[in-house]
Amino acid sequence: MPAEQSPDVPDEPTEASVAAAEQAALEAFAAAGDLEALKAARLAHAGDKSPLALANRAIGQLPPDRKAGAGKLVGQARGRVGQALAERQAALEAERDARILREEAVDVTLPTGRGLVGAAHPLTSLMDRISDVFVAMGWEVAEGPEVETEWYNFDALNFDADHPARQMQDTFYVAPEGSNLVLRTHTSPVQARALIDRGVPVYVVVPGRTFRTDELDATHTPVFHQVEGLAVDEGLTMADLKGTLTHFARAMFGDAVTTRLRPSYFPFTEPSAEVDLRCFVCAARTGTVDPGCRTCGGTGWIEWGGCGMVNPNVLVACGVDPERYSGFAFGMGVERTLMFRNGVADMRDMVEGDVRFARQLGGSL
Ligand code: DAH
Repeated sequence: MPAEQSPDVPDEPTEASVAAAEQAALEAFAAAGDLEALKAARLAHAGDKSPLALANRAIGQLPPDRKAGAGKLVGQARGRVGQALAERQAALEAERDARILREEAVDVTLPTGRGLVGAAHPLTSLMDRISDVFVAMGWEVAEGPEVETEWYNFDALNFDADHPARQMQDTFYVAPEGSNLVLRTHTSPVQARALIDRGVPVYVVVPGRTFRTDELDATHTPVFHQVEGLAVDEGLTMADLKGTLTHFARAMFGDAVTTRLRPSYFPFTEPSAEVDLRCFVCAARTGTVDPGCRTCGGTGWIEWGGCGMVNPNVLVACGVDPERYSGFAFGMGVERTLMFRNGVADMRDMVEGDVRFARQLGGSL
C-alpha cells in the first residue's frame, strides 16, 4: 500500500515534467543578458526551490523500484542545467571583463594639457657637479651676497684704495655714490666672509654669480659665474694647491688632463699663478699643437683660472694668524669651463634662456 501523499509532497517527476523544467531553465539562462539576470534565472531554475530541485526531493518519496529511473532522469537533467548555467556564467563574465577593458581603456595618444617641464640650466648643472667634487673631499659649499661691500670685494682682499688692481676689474657700482656697494666682480669676497664667519681651519667651494661691465659677445657677458675655492689650515703648501687643482681638473675634463701653473699676480694671493690645461682638443690628443685650434688658440694650453697661496695680509684682515695658518685659493670661470668641456662656442647661448640649449646638453652634464 503506497503511503498516502501529503499535499506538499511534490508530484512524481515524469519525463515530460523534467523535460519541461529543463527546457525552461535552458531558455531562461540563454535569455539572461547580464550576470544580474543570470543570477535570478539560477535561483528560479537551479535554486533550492526550482522545479528540478523539488523533483529531486520527490524521488525520496517514491517506491524503491521507481527511484532509480526517476533519479537518473532528474539527475541527468540537473547535470545539463548545471553545465548550461556554468557556460552562460563564463560567457557573461567574459563579456563583462571585455566591456570593462573597453570602457576603462586609457588612450595614451590623446593630447593633454601638460606643459614643458624645462631642464636645469647647464651652468647650474655644472656648478652642482663642481660642488660635488669638493663635497666628496669633505669641503663645504659657501655662498655670499651678489650686492657686496667694497670692503669684502676689494679691501679685505688686499686691493688698497689706489691700487691699480682695482682698475683691473670693470666694476658696477651701486647707487647712490658713496654707498660703498658694488655688484661683486668675483666670488673671492666669499673667501673673506668664510674666514670671518667660519674661522679656521676652513675648506670651502663657492659657486656664484658675478658681474662686470663687459659687452655681451661670444666670449664675454656682464653677468657670469665663477667658482672659488679656499682652504686655510696649518701646514698647507703649494703642493696641496697643485694636487687639488689636478684632481679638480681631472674630475672636469677626464683623467688624462695635464695641468700647469704659470706665474701671475693677484693682490690676494702670494705667490699667484694661472692654471692652464694642456689642450685636450689638439695638443694632448695628437701630440702636436694645431695652430688653428679654436679651443687653445694654437698655444697648446687652455687658460682655466687663477690661483695662489692666500696672501698673509688677507689672513690678517680676517683675524687669522698667518704665523700659524696658511692656505691656498683658486677661482675659475664657469662659462669658460662649460665652453671647453662641452664645446659651446658662443657664450650668448648661455644667457639667452632658450630651453633647447639646456636640452641639447641633456639637462644634466
Ligand atoms: N678672483 C679672480 C678673478 O676674478 C680669480 C682668482 C684668482 C681667484 C686667484 C682666486 C685666486 O681665488 O687665488 O679674476
